[in-house]
Amino acid sequence: MNFGVIGYGYWGPNVVRNLANMDGVNVSCIADLTPAARGRAQKACPTARVISSPCELIDSADIDAVAVITPVWTHYELAKAALLKGKHVFVEKPFTSTTAQGQELIEIAEKKNLRIMVDHTFLFTGAVRKIRQLLQEGTLGKLFYYDSTRVNLGLFQHDINVLWDLAPHDLSIMDYLLEASPEALVATGQKHLNGHEDVAFMTLYFPDSVIAHINVNWLSPVKIRTTLIGGEKKMLVWNDLEADEKVKVYDRGVDIKSREGLYELLVSYRSGDMWSPQVEQVEALRQELTYFVECIESNRDPHNDGHAGLRVVRMLEAATESLSQKGTLVSL
Ligand SMILES: NC(=O)c1ccc[n+]([C@@H]2O[C@H](COP(=O)([O-])OP(=O)(O)OC[C@H]3O[C@@H](n4cnc5c(N)ncnc54)[C@H](O)[C@@H]3O)[C@@H](O)[C@H]2O)c1
Repeated sequence: MNFGVIGYGYWGPNVVRNLANMDGVNVSCIADLTPAARGRAQKACPTARVISSPCELIDSADIDAVAVITPVWTHYELAKAALLKGKHVFVEKPFTSTTAQGQELIEIAEKKNLRIMVDHTFLFTGAVRKIRQLLQEGTLGKLFYYDSTRVNLGLFQHDINVLWDLAPHDLSIMDYLLEASPEALVATGQKHLNGHEDVAFMTLYFPDSVIAHINVNWLSPVKIRTTLIGGEKKMLVWNDLEADEKVKVYDRGVDIKSREGLYELLVSYRSGDMWSPQVEQVEALRQELTYFVECIESNRDPHNDGHAGLRVVRMLEAATESLSQKGTLVSL
């Protein structure tokens, strides 16, 4: 299968490296607007044709699939051009800048029987797969909350705010783990340095009293990637920066023994064992791209398809609306 990769900035090299190391896959062309990026691409992938024009890449008859690894505002145009030329598309997160754009891309792909995969990389990490397994097995019991902190210093994006940059990770993880869509959300944030919000908070209300909170920040002195997931039976902590024991499950909680009036409420705190399940150590992007090729070959849509990408964009759009009104509740 011949791939063309558009965009060889920060993330593009990871996509190219993984594709180039896969059996049966060939990176036949790389396009980037800047000479410096093209120089790096040619050095890293000497067998690929390295060019400046994304249109020329998309027009190439030998290319079966196009990976779009460019800034968000370019995703729609490049992905649309590739789909119209009959190419399968792997596109970075967030899928598009608007839901209307995402919908249009899905329609084109469906009409032409082409696959779209949105790069929701975290879904392919050992930690998220393990957490999904624990939730599906009912280990945590009824879910209460999802609370994530994803903060670090920089990397500032020029075209988007911190919500559009970092929150897609949590929104796609929640979409995958909770298998439910939020009913409403609230987003707040503030701009300090370059005209885009660099600190933001998002609260999402899901059915069955499940609540989620996301804290994203480009101005944090330290890097934190910690998610708490609380359930009625057990709670877990996922610290993605831990080398081992990324996921810890705590047999902790609160048991209410009696509900016969406020003053007779018997509350007991459960404080049992903590254990750390085995988490597969794999390069998520490699798993994801392998799955993309399998989906193309077997003519089936991946779980992180255009619809999954669109659900994330819908939440980001609603968050943008809430943010612009200093945190009003927006229904979804
Ligand atoms: N999945 C992940 O974990 C992850 C991580 C980082 C970035 N990303 C996503 O990857 C995308 C790119 O981010 P980045 O950090 O690599 O950006 P970047 O600015 O470092 O690189 C983008 C590259 O695309 C090139 N480019 C821009 N427009 C182009 C066009 N029309 N044709 C050809 N080349 C073009 C630029 O010259 C640049 O080299 C974004 O959507 C971002 O959200 C995803």
